[in-house]
Amino acid sequence: MPTILVAGGAGYIGSHTIVELFAAGHDVICVDDFSNSSPESLASIQKIAGKSVTLYTQDVCNTAALNDIFSQHVIDGVIHFAGYKAVGESVELPLMYYRNNIDSTLSLCEACLNHHVTNIVFSSSATVYGTPHFLPLTEEHPLSATNPYGNCKLFIEHILKDLCVANPAMNIALLRYFNPVGAHDSALLGESPRGIPNNLMPYICQTASGLRECLNVFGDDYETVDGTGVRDYIHVVDLAKGHVAAINKLAENPGCVTYNLGTGNGTSVLQLLSAFIAENKVNVPYKVTSRRPGDVAECWAATDKAEKELGWKAELGIKEMVRSSWLAQCNSK
Ligand code: UFG
Repeated sequence: MPTILVAGGAGYIGSHTIVELFAAGHDVICVDDFSNSSPESLASIQKIAGKSVTLYTQDVCNTAALNDIFSQHVIDGVIHFAGYKAVGESVELPLMYYRNNIDSTLSLCEACLNHHVTNIVFSSSATVYGTPHFLPLTEEHPLSATNPYGNCKLFIEHILKDLCVANPAMNIALLRYFNPVGAHDSALLGESPRGIPNNLMPYICQTASGLRECLNVFGDDYETVDGTGVRDYIHVVDLAKGHVAAINKLAENPGCVTYNLGTGNGTSVLQLLSAFIAENKVNVPYKVTSRRPGDVAECWAATDKAEKELGWKAELGIKEMVRSSWLAQCNSK
């Protein structure tokens, strides 16, 4: 039974990934300091999977502690989710982002080298494509970033590529996520951002539940189907399965490889909102406001590479995304 160390495993995407790792027969060690998550998600994983995670409550930046953990287990692969992820906050606190997100990566990589762990999957983002020059976004699209959060993703991709050049035994997958939404069917896991949500789906959920007064739709004058921003929303359970596919196929696709994890479909803000209201039969007050600085009009993924090389494809649609998001929101009260 291969053992996977999941850094940042208690968070939204990490916790869903652990459930799928268990389902695929892996053992899991989670390292998390709960700086943006809670131990409750690990209890939920145990309920869903019937297996418990070996937990180390530890900052992934702590190299000595990580080395200690690596010496106590035979680790077959690492999935790295440990990082801050709020774009706006990264603009205000760039050093905090660079320190945490880069340091956690360096610590993990050093521990891997010290303990001959050659398999790493990194949680990257479609943000590394910057403003799209063409759609769908293929993995070859030019890379750029417009904020410290995006820079961290880009820098870490470079660090991991350099690591592979220097250590040909390394197998690394950089997974560029599009817009993860939704929750596990049990409604026990979900996205519970602290404070005011930055992202659309948690904002819709909190407005529907009465926690927020009104959803602001950031601009309806884009050159899109209805003037609102278009994104490639992907169900978090599909995304989690993408990680399992990537870790299982690392040895077959050696070196540093990059995959988009998206559905290949674009959905506008108003389309997502209508689907949410229709499926869940709830009211979501909204108003159109000005554009949010830094937003692109449209963005969606080319999915062929992941399908061909990982044998993975997103299966769940917008209905499942809006339904499961709402159920998890209702269950979180
Ligand atoms: N939006 C609103 N109102 C809100 C929040 C968002 O209208 O309250 C709109 C945005 O303008 C955009 C769409 O909803 O058109 C999606 O916005 P999100 O903030 O949910 O997601 P983004 O596409 O801006 O960013 C997400 C992640 C980033 C990641 C990026 C990758 O949050 O971490 O996708 O493309 F980098």
